[in-house]
Formats: sequence, C-alpha cells, structure tokens
Amino acid sequence: MNILVYKNSEQIAKAAAAIFAAQTLEKPDSVLGLATGSTPINTYLQLIDLYKAGVLDFSKVKTFNLDEYVGLDKSHNQSYYSFMYENLFNHINISEENVHILNGIADDLDEECENYEQLIENAGGIDLQILGVGNNGHIAFNEPSDSFAQSTHIVTLKDSTIQANKRFFNNADEVPKQALTMGIGTIMKSSKIVLIAESQSKAQAISDMVNGNITPQLPASILKLHSNVTVILDEAAASLL
Ligand code: F6R
Repeated sequence: MNILVYKNSEQIAKAAAAIFAAQTLEKPDSVLGLATGSTPINTYLQLIDLYKAGVLDFSKVKTFNLDEYVGLDKSHNQSYYSFMYENLFNHINISEENVHILNGIADDLDEECENYEQLIENAGGIDLQILGVGNNGHIAFNEPSDSFAQSTHIVTLKDSTIQANKRFFNNADEVPKQALTMGIGTIMKSSKIVLIAESQSKAQAISDMVNGNITPQLPASILKLHSNVTVILDEAAASLL
C-alpha cells in the first residue's frame, strides 16, 4: 500500500483528483468506480473544477457506484443516485447511459446484483475505484462478518453504520436497514484503488487495516492483498499508524 498523509481535506482532494485526472487523461474511456458519503465530496469538487477548466473530459467515461440503499427510490434526496447527480454528474459532461448505480427498489434484488456484476464485466472491469472506509472498517457496504463476500449482494447494515449515517436523515429509524453493495471480490478486481480517510473517527480502522491481520471482521484489511492501492489520509486518520 502506498500511504500518503496530508494536512487537510483540500490537499487530500487535490491528491485524489490528480490520480483520477491522470487515469482519464491516459484512458478517456476509463471505467471509474465511485463512492458516496462525506469523504469523496471534495475530490468530486476538484474533478468538477478540472472539467470546468477544460482539463478533463468525461464524455467517454463509464461509472459504477459502490452501493445503494434498499428501498429508496432514485428520486429520494438521500439515495446515492441523488447524491451522485448533486455532487458530480450534474456538473460534468458524463452521458447518462454511462452512469451505473444499483437500483435499490428493483423487483428482484438478487437479479439486480447479478446484472450489475455482468455490466461491470461487459465494460471491461473497473480501472480505478475510489473508496471511503467506515468507522468499523467496512468498504462499500461490506460490513464486518465471518467471510468476505465475493460479488454484488444484499447486506443488512450494522447498527454502527446506521448510527454513522443517521446524520443524513431525520433520525436513525429513517436510515434504510439494508443496502445493495459491490462485493469484496468486485472491488478487488479493480485495477487501481484509492482509499481516502479523514478524521479521528477513522484512525482505529486505518491502524487495524495497515497493521492488523487480514480478516473479514475488518473488511478493509483485504486491500493489503491488492497490488495497486493508494491510501490518502489526513493527520487525524493517520494518528494511530
Ligand atoms: C459509500 C460507501 C461507504 C462509505 C463509508 C464512509 O458509497 O461505500 O463505505 O465510504 O461509510 O462514509 P463517509 O465518507 O461518509 O465517512
């Protein structure tokens, strides 16, 4: 793992956006794996600035998001679909047909997951995947468990995740209890991975990921087996390393 530590969120975002910029400049039809949550927002702002400055062109880029809540229609203001359009897609020249986000209200959720895997494969696999990390070490919504889930699947969210995400809803009861998520196998097949973590709340998970054993109880620990991972941290998230 290549670990970079920066002073603040803006520097982190610039470093992460530089990796994305290099990827799309080198391969204009790149397949990007995208995340939601607070962590990538500043990186997306940097990508929007680079697009507006004429540096980046997203017209041929394809995207696949990591996850989506079960039961939220895409028009719901807390769906990850809404998040992505608000924080990135509405501001760049990506084509709608190149955007892929799991449908959390599909009639057959298992079929939705199988189709998603197939779509990623048909696109040639993910060239560059951005990840955040949960306080409990989850990546995408692969929660701590007894085994690593291979492919896209339905998960029941841990209470710690519901508590962490209730800030986006009126209260914890409104946070969906299930989600669809890429599996650990799906993520590990990406050619390159960038994981970003900010703040003290991530310090323990980062320390366990870097220094601890590889275990499904800390899903992010599997990333040590990937050959091209860049971890970008602020000083607080790196404080226990
Ligand atoms: C979001 C996702 C999650 C988040 C993680 C951290 O698509 O896959 O794993 O990356 O929960 O969330 P934030 O960035 O809000 O701390």
